Amino acid sequence: MNHTSPARRQALRALAGFVASSPLYAQRDLADSRQLIPSMEEMINVFDFEPVFKARVLKTSYDYVAGGADNEWTLRRNREAFDKWAFRPRMLVNTAALDLSTTLFGTRVEAPILIAPTAGHGQMTADGELATARAAAATQTLMVLSTNSSQPYEKVAAAAEFPKWFQLYAGPDMDGTWERVERAKVSGFKAIVFTVDGPYNPRRERMLRNRIETATPPGVGAQQRAQPQTGRAARRQRDGEEAAPAQPQTRAQHYGLGTTLVQQLDWAFIVELKKRAAGMPVMIKGILTAEDTALAVKYGADGVVVSNHGARYLDYAPATIEVLGECVDAAGKMPVFIDGGFRRGSDVLKALALGAKAVLVGRPTLWGLGAYGEAGCKRVLEMLRSELALAMGLCGKPNLAAIDRKLLRTL
Ligand code: FNR
Ligand code: LAC
Repeated sequence: MNHTSPARRQALRALAGFVASSPLYAQRDLADSRQLIPSMEEMINVFDFEPVFKARVLKTSYDYVAGGADNEWTLRRNREAFDKWAFRPRMLVNTAALDLSTTLFGTRVEAPILIAPTAGHGQMTADGELATARAAAATQTLMVLSTNSSQPYEKVAAAAEFPKWFQLYAGPDMDGTWERVERAKVSGFKAIVFTVDGPYNPRRERMLRNRIETATPPGVGAQQRAQPQTGRAARRQRDGEEAAPAQPQTRAQHYGLGTTLVQQLDWAFIVELKKRAAGMPVMIKGILTAEDTALAVKYGADGVVVSNHGARYLDYAPATIEVLGECVDAAGKMPVFIDGGFRRGSDVLKALALGAKAVLVGRPTLWGLGAYGEAGCKRVLEMLRSELALAMGLCGKPNLAAIDRKLLRTL
């Protein structure tokens, strides 16, 4: 049934005629085609994956991944700081046998580009971290699995035949923390990457505007505990919060901040963690100064990851590439890794020149996963690897051993 009056119909027809004769309407195909999601083959660089990822996942997931803390100054700085250096390329070096491979705690990787630990891959693709593990194995690189994995650690360990590292968050209690270390060991992870830069939950305003109040979105973190649980922590969980002894309000709570045991940790924890890791190398992730790098050496860490957590905790933390040099100088023989804003092979090459052993990549692997699943994640890693190979080839560096600080000019 059509309730439109003849006069109105005529007006609509006139409007339609006007629109149809407009040059804007003639361009509608072009406008429509911009809405189409491009195929993976059309991706030219890693940045190209982000808008596809954005089109494919929930807005809350996009904002969770994209965002940083407060003003997001550090988020911008992580990228802009790469512009402080240019290369001093060398010519007429035989680079025909380019080799990007390196060995990290006994694992030979195809390139010094690893997957940073990020939470909740189930938001990006159905298989979540299982897909990521397969993409890592396909490119012969290490994936660092987050404590806040959306898949059970054991399943991720078994998802692909390539070594993996486990990222550890301490808390909310000690029993749960050591239980995680034990699970990582039993399921075959080769190293522990202990993250230290988030003692308090940050304020990520993009998430707050989506009415998500914590650093970790709902549904993330379901795998933090083994089932069935044993011990005091399990009892406490079974019995409910009321069963836990009443605690006096802490200073942090007084200031409106949540508290767990994490704020009480100090360097002595590293000594205990080394014992519990029982032979697995322990790296400390979230180091930004020479002083803390020296303490990491002193307390027996096997490596550090220079990281500001992708600008997601302390705003006005420095860009990681800007403090890499001082950390490398303080590290002696201990390997130094880095993450934060790596999007180009040339970014990776700059970090290697400043002394990093390898680089970890966070958001781009998630863009790949969200945009095209496992294949997208793999493609992102391959792109970064081939950009690094090209940059090395053009700089006259046939392998990683040939790269040093002389490759860089400070601008
Ligand atoms: C992270 N990061 C992170 N780090 C960690 O130790 N455990 C975690 O669970 C998470 N989760 C997480 C989720 C998301 C969505 C992002 C973007 C990041 C930080 C991550 O390991 C790494 O430090 C940064 O992501 C590196 O910066 P880029 O490459 O994202 O710029
Ligand atoms: C984050 C936490 C999960 O950065 O590490 O979102």
